[in-house]
Amino acid sequence: MVFLNGKFLPLEDAKIPVLDRGFIFGDGVYELVPVYARVPFRLDEHLARLERSLGETRIRNPYTRAQWRDVIFRLVDEQPFEDQGVYFQVTRGVAKRDHAFPKNVEPTVFMMSNPLVNPPREQVEKGAAAVSAQDYRWQRCDIKSISLIGNCLLRQLSAESDAAETLLFRDGKLTEASASNVFAVKRGVILSPEKDRRILPGITYDLIAELASANGMPIEFRDVAEAEVRAADELWVSSSSKEVLAIVELDGRRIGDGAPGPLFRRMYELYQDFKHKVMRAGKREAVSA
Ligand SMILES: Cc1ncc(COP(=O)(O)O)c(C=O)c1O
Repeated sequence: MVFLNGKFLPLEDAKIPVLDRGFIFGDGVYELVPVYARVPFRLDEHLARLERSLGETRIRNPYTRAQWRDVIFRLVDEQPFEDQGVYFQVTRGVAKRDHAFPKNVEPTVFMMSNPLVNPPREQVEKGAAAVSAQDYRWQRCDIKSISLIGNCLLRQLSAESDAAETLLFRDGKLTEASASNVFAVKRGVILSPEKDRRILPGITYDLIAELASANGMPIEFRDVAEAEVRAADELWVSSSSKEVLAIVELDGRRIGDGAPGPLFRRMYELYQDFKHKVMRAGKREAVSA
């Protein structure tokens, strides 16, 4: 079952008009919430980011926080599997094609949940390869927009090299990756760019920051030069589906000693422990690091 504009229905029956501005302009925003053992992970943080994306794009938020939570819980309960990735998007709605905002249209809300695919055990243990590219996306990467053509083109570069991600540099500095945030480790310090308009404020990025601080792991948010990334002792990518994953090869060159490093292993363990704490607490309770 999927959810479309207030109704639960089979995927095959979920249809939208071709003049939906999401289809015509990519004029919409989205979220992806991981769900472990039917417990949505950091749901309030995801809903807060959705509210922010809607506010920044001036798309009317059709639901209250409580209504969002209710439909998400219902959708999760409808699925026959435990670990899920709940995807939801809101577009500006259906209107005659014109760039300027239409008046009095209802936003379109679509929601589906698929089995959650985390990196396989072997990839967690051995690490993954990445390539790099210039970050030529727009200057509002802080908005979780459904207009993802830049991200798709950039991700395809790594797909064609059998690599897990494309790391991005803008003006000689690290921004993020095509679908994840990036952390570098140098001499025991975790480094990552500050949250500004160049990157998506990742929910996993925030959790890594919280876990690092709560467990005495030094972490700094500042500009990270391309040269620092290439000479890092460790590189990690983070996202709701990848969780935290070590990058051990960048553009065919080894990072550190070519295996996931000690800080990665510690953070991975903290992340898994935190997940279990959330699952034990159940779906209505917020848990902090
Ligand atoms: C461009 C980009 N950056 C970062 C992230 C990580 O965000 P989160 O940790 O909230 O999944 C994503 C997630 O899809 C993304 O698409």
